[in-house]
Amino acid sequence: MSNSPASSKIAPASGKLGILTPGLGAVATTFIAGVESIRRGLAKPIGSITQTATIRLGKRTENRAPLIKDFIPLADLKDIVFGAWDPIPDDALTAVRKAGVLEEKDVAPIADFLASIKPMPAAFDNHYVTRIHGTNVKTGKTKRDLAEQLRQDIRDFKSKNKLDRVVMVWCASTEIFIKAGPQHATIEQFERAMDNNDEAIAPSMLYAYAAIMENVPFANGAPNLSADIPALLQLAQQRGVPLSGKDFKTGQTWLKTVIAPGLKARMLGLAGWYSTNILGNRDGEVLDDPQSFKTKEESKLSVLHTILQPEKYPDLYKDFSHVVRINYYPPRGDNKEGWDNIDIFGWMNYPMQIKVNFLCRDSILAAPLVLDVALFSDFAQRAGMKGIQEWLSFFYKSPMTAPGLQPEHDLFIQQTKMKNTLRHLMGEDQITHLGLEYYS
Ligand SMILES: NC(=O)c1ccc[n+]([C@@H]2O[C@H](COP(=O)([O-])OP(=O)(O)OC[C@H]3O[C@@H](n4cnc5c(N)ncnc54)[C@H](O)[C@@H]3O)[C@@H](O)[C@H]2O)c1
Repeated sequence: MSNSPASSKIAPASGKLGILTPGLGAVATTFIAGVESIRRGLAKPIGSITQTATIRLGKRTENRAPLIKDFIPLADLKDIVFGAWDPIPDDALTAVRKAGVLEEKDVAPIADFLASIKPMPAAFDNHYVTRIHGTNVKTGKTKRDLAEQLRQDIRDFKSKNKLDRVVMVWCASTEIFIKAGPQHATIEQFERAMDNNDEAIAPSMLYAYAAIMENVPFANGAPNLSADIPALLQLAQQRGVPLSGKDFKTGQTWLKTVIAPGLKARMLGLAGWYSTNILGNRDGEVLDDPQSFKTKEESKLSVLHTILQPEKYPDLYKDFSHVVRINYYPPRGDNKEGWDNIDIFGWMNYPMQIKVNFLCRDSILAAPLVLDVALFSDFAQRAGMKGIQEWLSFFYKSPMTAPGLQPEHDLFIQQTKMKNTLRHLMGEDQITHLGLEYYS
């Protein structure tokens, strides 16, 4: 680790870190089971940037490329304690078996540990997620009461487990589509709307509010607005809490943000991009509701326009069609299959096609992202960062940005931004890839 003046301002990762997830479904249980298996030496942290990626420092001739986890002060996996809320009362062992992502050979050795994680009663309302019917649900006269109960849960979790710090990562179902309105404009209006049980206040916003009030960084793995409203952005700024989101960039959208920058780098045109999926897990069932799908669709559709910039390159990207479909198909469980048909054109307008058939595993791709955003959010707070963490855009389909700015979707620009932020915070030079070393 560097001892520069910049890095010396970052508080060390001493003591225990609590990771709280609203939602104890497929993604959350695959994440928890994976971390515990890694801690016991039964698995390796494949897919996790914080655990396996290196970062180049200085000139190429210096040959310095430590692991990120050896370069910045990150919480150690052995210091993590898990907690969750879910309207379904299943403990993590029952939930991991129902999710059907992991095989019994991987579940059995950690069964006791998983059985010890029981979800707290959720702030849940069927109006926002219509396909889930749970019994483990909080009651309260107002939405403000529910938020206060969540705050108490966080305080109890912290004291019971003797934690130093806590972060929260939303791993719960995608809520129905909500547009930011006057109820979300200021903290006062938001608090009044909670008191009035206003429909514009979704449960995920109550969790985000509770997290920020308890100085707990909040990361949003789903596309619902949650913390992405002016009132909560202001509150996070005031209280010095890092925020990031939205919607983990895992399967089809991850590949889209790899392929589209490649087409643009070569100045090849795009006539259309058709994406369809079949998926049979509980997430697929929730997304079968048109209102929840609309939230997801908005998140998936936004990436191509920002990467391809049709306004700058009308000959290449004006009016391309972009269609995204998700079909709930129970036999597939978590093993989603995605098809992409990409109609491109080249020299003298000659058309070509690219076909992608991605047989992925949704939660296997998402689990390491939960770990990375949790550890980086905790690091950000210890480094004094607050509000939207744009350098974490790398992990999200719809990255949160300061009002009025376009999000960055290109995976490789996002990766450069993430690594340069780490270099900057640790007092190292930015990597410019200028290639002038040999002339100086
Ligand atoms: N797996 C991926 O690749 C991926 C990628 C991006 C985003 N996501 C999102 O991550 C989320 C989780 O996905 P999953 O596959 O684990 O789904 P899942 O259905 O298995 O789990 C979600 C859990 O959240 C619970 N829940 C719903 N509302 C809640 C509330 N208000 N408070 C607490 N818990 C609540 C549900 O009961 C359920 O157990 C979804 O929103 C999904 O869209 C997943």
